[in-house]
Amino acid sequence: MNTIIEKYYRVLIADDEKGIRDLLKDLLEGSFYVSTIDRGDTIIEELTKNKYDILILDLQMPGKNGIEVLQTIRDLKLDIVVVVITASNDVQLAITSMKLGAYDYLVKPFDTDKLLVILKNIVEKLDLENEVNELREKVGESFRFKNIIGRSPKMQRVFATLERVIDTDSTILIIGESGTGKEIIAKAIHYNSNRKQYPFKSIDCSTIPQDLIGSELFGHEKGAFTGAIARKIGKFEVASKGTLFLDEISNLSFDMQAKLLRVLQEKEFERIGGNEVIKVDTRIVAASNRDIREMVKQGTFREDLYYRLNVVPIYLPPLQERKEDIPLFIDYFLNKFTTEYGRNISLDLQSRLYLTDYHWPGNVRQLENVIKRLVLLSTEHVVKLDIVKSVLEFEEYNKPKATIQDTEREHINHVIPEDSVNSKKIQDSESQAHQVKTLDEIEKEYIEKMLKYFDYNISLTAKAINVSRKTMHNKLKKYNIAIKKTVIEN
Ligand SMILES: Nc1ncnc2c1ncn2[C@@H]1O[C@H](COP(=O)(O)OP(=O)(O)OP(=O)(O)O)[C@@H](O)[C@H]1O
Ligand SMILES: [Mg+2]
Repeated sequence: MNTIIEKYYRVLIADDEKGIRDLLKDLLEGSFYVSTIDRGDTIIEELTKNKYDILILDLQMPGKNGIEVLQTIRDLKLDIVVVVITASNDVQLAITSMKLGAYDYLVKPFDTDKLLVILKNIVEKLDLENEVNELREKVGESFRFKNIIGRSPKMQRVFATLERVIDTDSTILIIGESGTGKEIIAKAIHYNSNRKQYPFKSIDCSTIPQDLIGSELFGHEKGAFTGAIARKIGKFEVASKGTLFLDEISNLSFDMQAKLLRVLQEKEFERIGGNEVIKVDTRIVAASNRDIREMVKQGTFREDLYYRLNVVPIYLPPLQERKEDIPLFIDYFLNKFTTEYGRNISLDLQSRLYLTDYHWPGNVRQLENVIKRLVLLSTEHVVKLDIVKSVLEFEEYNKPKATIQDTEREHINHVIPEDSVNSKKIQDSESQAHQVKTLDEIEKEYIEKMLKYFDYNISLTAKAINVSRKTMHNKLKKYNIAIKKTVIEN
């Protein structure tokens, strides 16, 4: 036993028979902190006074019987795992106690090995729970409101609205252009709400094929359809008591919209292919980069669902409309990436002004990418305007997603920030289809700019754009770029 248990959990043994108390104490001491108690009516007091992880509970005790103790534990929501011990003649009682939340039961006289196996399982369960809790705390920590930037009046208004509704169960609809922070706000809502100790789950309705969304959301039973080889628990169920983030909800098919509406109204559903009615208490936060009202007018989004979702609308303004936040974002991301990459980089005043005045079509996400690239690219401690401009220019060229061939994509991945290459916004790519420059041309220009910036030092340039020297030479050859030190400019 000692070898299995690394952490010491606290066990309370409640039995009126001294022989059993002593036997169990001897058995478990060394692996647990063990205390004993001999009366039923003092158990609850002991559990609330001292922290215990496991209770071994004899069902027949003077003062208060075990079933009553279990009921009280449940009513007080005490966080403890209970193993019940019962005399052989009342197995029915044991079953009742399981229904009341006991973890397992043993019938007297029992084999101590059996108890050890049960305890081993409990320890594993507790270890796992502790791990998950620690993780949650960590994740929760990084999503406090304090990590969300927004001093501008428009963002202050967003925070004020959130403050009012965060601890209610209200559905929240976040509308904002791509990159305005819909997801980070959705997480902030969850991790600042009284649901934070329960799961936050998200589903992106724009990337999951529509015929799979139903089973993602509601789950399915084994054999519900071809390929359903096992039961699957849907996100609605997993996130019960927590929050479910429905991202890009405008992409939901009409059929799925109807199913979602029903769950929002009735707070229950059946898994696909199942009859059991599953009741859930899942808070919904939805997001869209399209104006859903327009879609309602056009008849592509159900009006009733829109009203259900739009209980608390949050509109995230484009970055351009909250310019006073840009300097904060610059410092925030500079700090983030210099720490992450262990570099000491700052921006000169001109660069800062230029970035603050830029129109940021890709909003905060684009600003974040630009700062990241500057931190990675810069060989000097202070970044100057020309490299800022060149990175931004590259960003501008970097929009035509549909024209990128997969083979080309692989080939140019090192110069294009991954987020924009893999972007799922097909609308964007269609509107950019008139793009005239080829990717080769863009890459050529980029390399030329970088070479110039690094004073035609091939090693430095290769390092800065994250390719090997060999690749760099191949590219120079491919694009016919001559290395000349053009020192005299005027
Ligand atoms: N107010 C903010 N404070 C700090 N970081 C932010 C803020 N807004 C956005 N970000 C950061 O900008 C990036 C984009 O934000 P997010 O993914 O939440 O946007 P989005 O609206 O969901 O974008 P998309 O429509 O592209 O999915 C993320 O890295 C996020 O952490
Ligand atoms: Mg998003």
